[in-house]
Amino acid sequence: MKIMLLQGPNLNFLGIREKNVYGLQGYDDICRELKEYAFLKGVELDCFQSNGEGEIIDRIQQCYLEKYDGVIINPGAYTHYSYAIFDAIKSTNLPFVEVHLSNIHTREEFRHHSVTAPACVGQICGFGTMGYKMALGYFIENSLDSGEENI
Ligand code: DQA
Repeated sequence: MKIMLLQGPNLNFLGIREKNVYGLQGYDDICRELKEYAFLKGVELDCFQSNGEGEIIDRIQQCYLEKYDGVIINPGAYTHYSYAIFDAIKSTNLPFVEVHLSNIHTREEFRHHSVTAPACVGQICGFGTMGYKMALGYFIENSLDSGEENI
């Protein structure tokens, strides 16, 4: 099973930005840990981060063309206003799980609404990087239920 983790703007600054909200762990370290975690579960995980909306959309389309089994997406602030990312998710017909490290519902009002979540299977927020593992867990359980082999 091949899963993509897509992270949007400013998430490359994890470990630097608002440490009280997003924690101390750096972006590269998080990706390394998640890839190892996925590997142990028999999942191939690729990580991609971009600060640009267009690049995120290009990568979403690439996930379709390269036949990924699912995508974990943290669109960062694009979550709250990118109809273009909503459309891109919809156009692939792939299962997406939206993850936010922070609990967006306890923060500023503008973060309470996600325009991208309705294009996804579901949303996980407020559990830090564990949320990415929870999303992986969804894909693993789901592939077991449907009798697919992992990898
Ligand atoms: C975030 C929440 C967004 O509101 C914010 O713009 C981010 C990170 C999160 O992971 O908690 O960049 O997606």
